Amino acid sequence: MIKMDIMPGCVFSPQPMYIIGTKSEDEVPNFCVITWIGFSFDETPHLMMTIGGSKQTKTNILRDKMFSANLISEDIIWLADYFGTTKAEEKLKNDIQFDYKWGNNLKVPILEQSNWVYECEVTKIIELDGSHLFLADIKNIQIDKNFEGIDLEMIDLKMLNPAIYAPYNYFSVGDRIGGCGEWKNHIMKDNQEHEIKFSKVYGTNK
Ligand SMILES: Cc1cc2nc3c(=O)[nH]c(=O)nc-3n(C[C@H](O)[C@H](O)[C@H](O)COP(=O)(O)O)c2cc1C
Repeated sequence: MIKMDIMPGCVFSPQPMYIIGTKSEDEVPNFCVITWIGFSFDETPHLMMTIGGSKQTKTNILRDKMFSANLISEDIIWLADYFGTTKAEEKLKNDIQFDYKWGNNLKVPILEQSNWVYECEVTKIIELDGSHLFLADIKNIQIDKNFEGIDLEMIDLKMLNPAIYAPYNYFSVGDRIGGCGEWKNHIMKDNQEHEIKFSKVYGTNK
C-alpha cells in the first residue's frame, strides 16, 4: 500500500457517542454530547473526556466534579443531536421530551432512554489551551434490565446498538467480524499463500 501524508487537522476518529449529564447550580439537569471520549484503567475503569471552550457542562463539572455518560443508541440519535447543538448558556434545553432520574451513586442525571450509563467522579483535570481534559473514575454502571445475565466480556454490540460518530456523520453498527483470539482460523491460509508468493519473488532462505 502506498501511503501519503495529510495534515493532522481533522482526524478520523470513529467511536460510540455519549450524552453527558450534569447538574446545574439551580439543581436543573443538563445534557450535552461529547465525542472526545476514551477509556482507561487504573485499578478501576476510568473515562477520559475533553471539553473545549465555554460550556455549561464544563462549568458544572468544574464545580461538582461529577457527570454521567449515557451511551447513545441509534433510537435516541436525534435527541442527542438536539442536546449537542443547543447551548445551555443561551437557553434551557426544554424543547423536546426526555426523562431522567438522579444516579444511584452520584447526584448526576441519568437519561431514562439510554441503555448503558456510567456514573463518573472526576479525579484529575488537565487544563489545556482552552480545552479541559477530565479523567474520571467510573463509580457505577446502570444498564437496561433487559441485558440481565449477558456475558460482560463478550457483549454483542448489536444488542446495545450504539450510534457511531465518524466526524461529522452518524452511522449504525455493521456485522460482527469474529471473536478475540480467533486470528489463526482466519489468516493462516492467507499467510501461507503470502509466503508462497513472497518466496517466488524474493527467493527463500529456508
Ligand atoms: C456529535 C457531537 C459531538 C460533540 N463532541 C464534543 C466534544 O467532544 N467536545 C466538546 O467540547 N463539545 C462537543 N460537542 C459540542 C457540545 O455538545 C455543544 O457545544 C453543546 O451545545 C454543549 O452543551 P451545554 O451548553 O449544555 O454544555 C459535540 C456536539 C455534537 C453534536
